[in-house]
Amino acid sequence: MKNFFLNLGKQPLANKYLKTFKKNQIKYDLKLYFDTKSKLVSISKRIPSKIMFNNKYPYRSSMSLTMRKSFKKLSKEIKNKYKPKMLLEIGSNDGALICNFKKKNVLGIEPCKNLAEITKKKGFKTYNNYWDIRLSNKLKSIYGHIDLIYSSNTLTHISNLNNVFKSINNILSSKGILIIEDPSLLECIKKNSYDQFYNEHIYLFSAIAVKKLLEKFKLEIFDIKNLSTHGGSLRYYIKKKINKKLKITKNVKKQIDKEINYGLGKLNTYKKFSKNVKKSKIDLLRILHKIKLNKKKIIGYGATAKVVTVLNYCNINSELISNFTDTTPEKIHNFIPGKNIKILKYKKDILNKYDFAFLGAWNFKKEIFKKERSFLKNGGRFITHIPKPKII
Ligand code: TYD
Repeated sequence: MKNFFLNLGKQPLANKYLKTFKKNQIKYDLKLYFDTKSKLVSISKRIPSKIMFNNKYPYRSSMSLTMRKSFKKLSKEIKNKYKPKMLLEIGSNDGALICNFKKKNVLGIEPCKNLAEITKKKGFKTYNNYWDIRLSNKLKSIYGHIDLIYSSNTLTHISNLNNVFKSINNILSSKGILIIEDPSLLECIKKNSYDQFYNEHIYLFSAIAVKKLLEKFKLEIFDIKNLSTHGGSLRYYIKKKINKKLKITKNVKKQIDKEINYGLGKLNTYKKFSKNVKKSKIDLLRILHKIKLNKKKIIGYGATAKVVTVLNYCNINSELISNFTDTTPEKIHNFIPGKNIKILKYKKDILNKYDFAFLGAWNFKKEIFKKERSFLKNGGRFITHIPKPKII
């Protein structure tokens, strides 16, 4: 049964950047639910994929050094450990992972045309399609069974998980490996990072829920890794149950026990989370208002999809945060979805004109602090809302 636990208000599409601010930009309810049976945490309003993932999708995996490094490291591991003849990536974005492989050994699936074009132009075989059984059948007829399927930060964006796994199961060889990687629900709850929820993130996975979900498809997790990317992610290594050669590592039980002990299987945990989120909103607004009273200027750093949830939930406008800065060409000179805050092109000395920088991309704190040493040296300060609103 699905139980409601948090209302994050009306939210625009998290990646819908507009050239001119529109007060009446379409907004949707963002309400969170916990299913006591499947243990899945999800949002209620499902927006058709075609509206969200189109030919102008602005998110680019390659924009951060952290992600590029993470994909490079994983590609080495895959090549050394699993030596796949063919790797298929569901949601290949701008090719941050597949560019580490030989062109003849990888297939990209990317529904956003502008992103698919990037990898196509580089000579990587890319299918500009949504992942479904039709595509799975088509690829199987061309390439046969696939021995490694990878998907990062994509499956949580797809409403019908049964179709996703049915289509994967259809093409994955009996000894094949599926690796998926998505933000960790446990880390989200621990860090109070309610901004992991936005209309594209239909689900936030826990190992408990993924294990249950896979059972239907005779698939099982044989290893799990905790990653620091996206504020704390889990990488699940999955195999078919009939493949007895791969042993299930201790990491799987360890993660599941950790989640059970934290209470991820109980509704009460989510109710507590909801209280913490409401407090976080009050505390963040208090900090921002105090800074403004002192006539200091605040810029937002990293126009993430996550920050759209924060700004719209807390109702933060340009009177509090005058601008944002970001390196993504598709976001620059546009407005933060739902807000009258303009995104400025990142330049080395951009922060010098401001006293404070609000960390929209808090998940890249390390990378950003390293880059902005001189801002900090000159007395500039960062503000974060994770795990609690504070000035750093
Ligand atoms: P990210 O946190 O990956 O994603 P999401 O949109 O899923 O919440 O987004 C990081 C954003 O921050 C992206 O728009 C690029 C931007 N960014 C910078 O502008 N400068 C930086 O130094 C870093 C690390 C990120």
